[in-house]
Amino acid sequence: MKVGFVGWRGMVGSVLLHRMRECGDFGSFDSSFFTTSQKGVQRQITGLSEEVVLKDAYNFEELSQNAVILSCQGGEYSKQVYSELRKNGWSGYWIDAASFLRMHPDSTVILDPVNRNLIDSAIEAGKKNFIGGNCTVSLMLMALHGLFNSGVIEWVSSMTYQAASGAGAESIRELISQMGEISEAGINKPDVLEMEETIRARMLHDDFPTQFTKAPLAGGLIPWIDEDLGSGQSREEWKAEAEANRILGTESNPTRIEGICVRVGTLRCHGQALMFKLKEKVDLSQLTRIINDANDWVTVIGNNKDSSIAGLSPAKISGTLKIPVGRLRKLSIDDNIYSAFTLGDQLLWGAAEPLRRMLKIIVQHIK
Ligand code: HSE
Repeated sequence: MKVGFVGWRGMVGSVLLHRMRECGDFGSFDSSFFTTSQKGVQRQITGLSEEVVLKDAYNFEELSQNAVILSCQGGEYSKQVYSELRKNGWSGYWIDAASFLRMHPDSTVILDPVNRNLIDSAIEAGKKNFIGGNCTVSLMLMALHGLFNSGVIEWVSSMTYQAASGAGAESIRELISQMGEISEAGINKPDVLEMEETIRARMLHDDFPTQFTKAPLAGGLIPWIDEDLGSGQSREEWKAEAEANRILGTESNPTRIEGICVRVGTLRCHGQALMFKLKEKVDLSQLTRIINDANDWVTVIGNNKDSSIAGLSPAKISGTLKIPVGRLRKLSIDDNIYSAFTLGDQLLWGAAEPLRRMLKIIVQHIK
């Protein structure tokens, strides 16, 4: 069985290969590695013992020889290549991290701990497109999995705190150089107000590095992510309800999910302040149990100062598959309304892990 990887050098692709090595996934199929810029180059690949020769990611004949193509190359590549492959009769499995095909009628948006039943039915029905969801959506569903499963949610408000990694590798680098500039400008000022004023002047100067982030992210935040839909909502905000209900298979009777998406200066850990209304009264201990027992990765953190500070720290959660859910409390504003705060690694459950697991499901199905 042949699997072709495209976009394996970027952040999501690299995290994917590391996880595949860690989990011993490479033994069960033949891998080919495609490139948009280094065709014919010999390379050592994470997880493989021997060097491979890279293939041309625009060579349809070579791509077509794969039973599965897994792409982390981005939406532009998918747009150029996917339809052409299908037009030429390729009928293999297409696994993709990009959003391009998420709403395609033949696609299934994948998050198998939450929607394995839909994935299995799609495979049985001969569907071939399996697309990773938006990071905040996947992380929210992993966190509130138990509540969505038990059908008690009336609506959710999700206010996001999204890491620089979601905007790409260049944004992480730029964030770090902003941090350096800020430190250099202010660190030696003995008076803290003078320090702040000097730093602010530096941040507002024309040559402060904001080519990718568009506004200072270090010492700041950016309350808009992805395209402007012209309705006052960003595309990232639109994805919450659209994709969550697609993953859950509830598009015909959708759960309302709304909020504001904000970029903050964490490196690769997304946070979300959630508020949700339940259809019925559920006491806090039962709520805790429902959330905590839903999957192997979610854990409820006690709602007190020490546990919240220690357990809901992006630095601790980054690089892990953990999904902590804390700040769980019944709010006083109306009946059956609760708060929660959750974190998750943007590159693992937010991007690479659902793809890795999907590949495994397909390999097991084909064998
Ligand atoms: N759109 C997300 C973000 C990342 O900008 O953080 C990809 O899911």
